[in-house]
Amino acid sequence: MRISVIGCGYLGAVHASAMAELGHEVVGIDIDERRIAALAKGRPPFFEPGLHEILTSATATGRLRFSTDMADAAGAEVHFLAVGTPQAAGTTAADLRYVDAAFESLLPHLADGALVVGKSTVPVGTAARLAARLTEVAPHASLAWNPEFLREGFAVKDTLAPDRLVYGVADDHAASVLDRVYRAAVEAGTPRVVTDYATAELVKAAANAFLATKISFINAMSELADATGADVTALADAIGHDARIGRRFLNAGVGFGGGCLPKDIRAFTARAEELGRGDSLAFLREVDAINMRQRQRVVDLAVAALGGSVHRKRITVLGVTFKPESDDVRDSPALDVAVHLKGLGAEVVATDPEGIENARLRHPQLDYTSSTQEALRGAELVVLVTEWREYRALDPVATGRLVAERRIIDGRNVLDAAAWRAAGWQVRGLGRP
Ligand code: UDX
Repeated sequence: MRISVIGCGYLGAVHASAMAELGHEVVGIDIDERRIAALAKGRPPFFEPGLHEILTSATATGRLRFSTDMADAAGAEVHFLAVGTPQAAGTTAADLRYVDAAFESLLPHLADGALVVGKSTVPVGTAARLAARLTEVAPHASLAWNPEFLREGFAVKDTLAPDRLVYGVADDHAASVLDRVYRAAVEAGTPRVVTDYATAELVKAAANAFLATKISFINAMSELADATGADVTALADAIGHDARIGRRFLNAGVGFGGGCLPKDIRAFTARAEELGRGDSLAFLREVDAINMRQRQRVVDLAVAALGGSVHRKRITVLGVTFKPESDDVRDSPALDVAVHLKGLGAEVVATDPEGIENARLRHPQLDYTSSTQEALRGAELVVLVTEWREYRALDPVATGRLVAERRIIDGRNVLDAAAWRAAGWQVRGLGRP
């Protein structure tokens, strides 16, 4: 099939490459010339495992092209809208400016029978609004909403083999077109939910709200564990054995960040308020507040570990990205902690396998090194805030020889505290005795 993907950020670049990998003929469109130039050369503009491979193979065969000219989308049967919906300045609502601009500039290029497919995370009601506009100016085309659930770090896998397909459609034809797009997944028996626009939009918001709630729930339990001497990890294991609860997404720590969960729960709350249903999602404000509190807890632990002040103390921060296997530092709890400690007068050295470049752009005031060993040398306190494999695998004895003081805060509860203590370390975690 001939497909266009409009917007080549995290979502769009992966989606375009994955569609080409599935055998479609794809053009990726973005207004950012540098991004398009890099992608056209087969260079992903961000770190995502597996993306480089499928991008280079698809660009080499010519199945995947990139352009800054919307006219190059003309002739495609399916157009995916994959532009960003950031948090609007000064509010918690989603900024739909990019969705609206991309949609409007696509309208003149729609062929007869074309299907426009929204992938961006939008406030419920957006699809109906865009569909009405389509009826007005391009009645020969139709609209579907097909939310994306990809996780950074697993984006290629999640796109090629999703755990479910959700189609928000107004008629059967749109669903059958999407079935052809995702034929491989459909034939593999991937569960498929065909529904209306509003439900499809809500599915995405609800999924992210649920995941955020699950994380804040366990973080709230970790606060109680700290107050009582209980162990939140054992608690998570025990409640996780109940299949209705499940162990995944019950890891207490510095909390959630990234380009999705924080802004999506805020936008969802803002939308509920617009709809006169603010009470229904009032709890998400608490979810957000619990989450933000975890960053402060890690900072407080650092202050306590250093006897009441971090001023002029050398602190090594392990990790700056919002999660491992990503170079994304958007709303990163790890980077927030590092900046906060620096603000309190600490001599912070931050390290990360992939995120330093992005972190430096946002926070040039921090010292960075890509070498874990160099970062650790002379540390009076180590703060692990992103659970990269190499930090989880650190050897407490060898690490102990590098630092000035054997003190570590495990902000992700991933270290074997007993082994570290046996090597002479003072170890503190969140909700762990
Ligand atoms: C999320 C959703 O998972 C995905 O379905 C949606 O499409 C986009 O938003 P992503 O932002 O890539 O994906 O990251 P995710 O793996 O969900 O992690 C989000 C944050 O929660 C990270 O900062 C992570 O460290 C944190 N987290 C996750 C926890 O603190 N504890 C957990 O148990 C799990």
